[in-house]
Amino acid sequence: MWLGVSIFFLASLFEWDVSVFWKGFMRIFLQLYIMMSLLFSSSVLADKMLGLPPLLVPDDNPQTAGKIALGRLLFNDKRFSANDLVSCSSCHHADKAFTDGLPVAIGINGQAGVRNVPTIINAAFYQAQFLDGRASTLEEQALGPFVNPIEHGLISHQVIVDVIRNDPEYLKLFNKVFNVTINAITIDYVVKAIASFERTLISGNSAFDRYLFGRDQSAISVSAARGFRIFRRKGNCANCHEISWDNALFTDNRFYNIGVGFKRLTPVLEELIAGKNPEDMALTDAQRSELGRFKVTKTLADLGKFKTPTLRNIALTAPYMHDGSLKTLEAVIEHYDKGSDNNRFIDAKIFPLNLMKQEKADLLAFMQTLTSMPVK
Ligand code: HEC
Ligand code: HEC
Repeated sequence: MWLGVSIFFLASLFEWDVSVFWKGFMRIFLQLYIMMSLLFSSSVLADKMLGLPPLLVPDDNPQTAGKIALGRLLFNDKRFSANDLVSCSSCHHADKAFTDGLPVAIGINGQAGVRNVPTIINAAFYQAQFLDGRASTLEEQALGPFVNPIEHGLISHQVIVDVIRNDPEYLKLFNKVFNVTINAITIDYVVKAIASFERTLISGNSAFDRYLFGRDQSAISVSAARGFRIFRRKGNCANCHEISWDNALFTDNRFYNIGVGFKRLTPVLEELIAGKNPEDMALTDAQRSELGRFKVTKTLADLGKFKTPTLRNIALTAPYMHDGSLKTLEAVIEHYDKGSDNNRFIDAKIFPLNLMKQEKADLLAFMQTLTSMPVK
């Protein structure tokens, strides 16, 4: 941006020396340059990886090496929990593609949650965080688990700030990274560092990326290539798990009811349809979870909708779906093949597929090509 302004300034100094043509050209060029730098100055572009779009980083939280390292420490610190045993990495393990391999999360004191732990690899690309999209940024998301009674179980974020203020090593790091002294440290800096660390957990360049975007026909098997076709056509999968011309996040960042776990709401569905407020109803935690996107928007049409998740590294993140109810990718394929179970809230894009045995095997082979190099 400043480079643009200074070139503009210099150019106007020498204006009388350049020909009319060059003057016009320079002016248009410089105006364009300034416009573009204004447009892009609000975002820092991270390294681009094959198959991924550029990563947008918020203006007020630029990536720095020190901040990322601090974020990693905070992400792994078990002292930020009611029993000193739970950190973010308790549920998002680096060696399980940042999931925990369990149907539903197990938090503090062995308490079971109601939702499956999603991977946070490539979460930096989501337009909204959480399966129901209730947080809009990684910074905002990171505030949640600390005070969730069955996750880190803290009574308030102040506990974290106190731990940091009593740790000379943290004090040094916060000072170096954010230029803040002990009394100025707040939870906002903590979540900024964690979010910066999470923005390094990105992975592309899978066999599929080399096949499609790297134009290497030999990168995936013939069966997987047939599976890719089914994914886009007969299976209708890419309708929601989107693939664009130069990258693929396998999500459209929208929310759908695809019929998983929705039966849990059957006993109370009529009341919900009649407009009763779920806050006034005696729902179990599992039933409350099934409200999905409705919990955020309070719009009946959003009942049982969940965010389309990325499918990158999907072979590593079993079990599947928001309730962890499908153990294998084969079971996921069977779910879609069966199509609608006639619940009136199921999305119109979900219908019986009538896939043949070979087609199912191909689809599975395709999903197995979406695994990238491990991210740590
Ligand atoms: C007890 C297990 C547990 C702990 C501890 C935990 N998480 Fe999660 N995390 C989950 C579950 C379950 C979800 C999905 C919940 C939902 O969407 O309602 C989730 C969702 C997320 C998401 C959103 C991903 C997406 O697909 O939208 C991010 C990012 C995330 N966690 C980061 C963190 C961070 C950072 C911490 C530490 C501050 C943390 N988690 C601690 C279980 C956990
Ligand atoms: C109408 C949109 C839509 C279509 C079409 C669709 N999906 Fe999904 N997919 C979703 C949503 C939404 C979820 C999350 C649902 C949940 O958590 O309950 C999901 C979840 C998944 C998961 C589990 C992800 C995880 O991390 O747990 C896999 C695997 C998957 N879909 C594969 C496919 C395949 C293969 C097809 C085609 C046969 C397909 N999807 C078609 C929207 C769609």
